[in-house]
Amino acid sequence: MTSTTLKISLLVLAMALPHLGSVAGLTIGPVTIGPGGGTGDPVLTSFDGRSFEFMGDVGKFYSLISERSHQLSMRLKLGQMFDHNGTYMDGIGFMYQQHKVLVEIDAAGNLEVVLDGKRLQMSTGETEQEHILALEQGELMINWEHHRAGLGQAVEITSDMLSVVAYLTPAGTLDEGGVVQPAYINFDADLLSPPAGAMKGVIGEGYERLMNPKSVPEEDDYKFHGVEKDYEQASYFSTSHPSCMFGVPADTSSIKRRLAERVHVAFPLHFSSVQPKRLPQASSGAQPSLRSLLGASLRVNPMAV
Ligand SMILES: *[C@@H]1O[C@H](CO)[C@@H](O)[C@H](O)[C@H]1NC(C)=O
Repeated sequence: MTSTTLKISLLVLAMALPHLGSVAGLTIGPVTIGPGGGTGDPVLTSFDGRSFEFMGDVGKFYSLISERSHQLSMRLKLGQMFDHNGTYMDGIGFMYQQHKVLVEIDAAGNLEVVLDGKRLQMSTGETEQEHILALEQGELMINWEHHRAGLGQAVEITSDMLSVVAYLTPAGTLDEGGVVQPAYINFDADLLSPPAGAMKGVIGEGYERLMNPKSVPEEDDYKFHGVEKDYEQASYFSTSHPSCMFGVPADTSSIKRRLAERVHVAFPLHFSSVQPKRLPQASSGAQPSLRSLLGASLRVNPMAV
């Protein structure tokens, strides 16, 4: 994509979303964008709209959301940048009731999807497939696409409560020093309805803060305020970590009470993960997704209204 077409598509986007009016002026160049730029660690945005950098350790698994019937986790891998090392997300585990969906990057650098231990296969010419699991209570839908609009390779996983779109940034983007970066995963997600019980995890706890009238909003310093180690789990679907809420019966009375106290909370609540801005490499054809550009532009000027 040339910078002209990029500016035009951003302009179209800005017109479609008037509250992001300053997006059209975003300059794509070899600069570090925003407080998260240049660090190389996933930037997570929680339910309360707060963005923070989560560094984590290479090869480790972390709990993003843990709730009675859902668990969302991530695995991190090494990111080698021109001047330092960071981490990239290279796998997402989504557990709903007794079902497990794993999204990882295969040896060829493409997204792969494993549903209940079985690797899904696209046949020749196929570019999209949908799996709907009707459960005794609720439903789980998996929609895997090779060319999702604006995102490219993507997997959407939706239950009655949670919707996650994991998408691939292919290998070949460049960091600020021109070093070629590997493929990695981002996600964009919504909490569709209130959880039945307590919610924990790196992102999940943002919901608890949002729903608790006594909580003090965390400082907007792009830092994770918890202790990373407390959110570590042994594997994507492990439930033995101390902060695990999977399978823990709901205490519905307290949730109802808290909901009643904060009636202005409107669903869906959005949350996401992006890597700090990378430059597209012209020769590989890798393009930044509109979503990641939006994320970057919002970090440039959070007050742009
Ligand atoms: C980054 O990690 C690699 C592999 O572990 C190591 O060889 C390299 O020295 C590290 N670079 C920095 C700047 O820490």
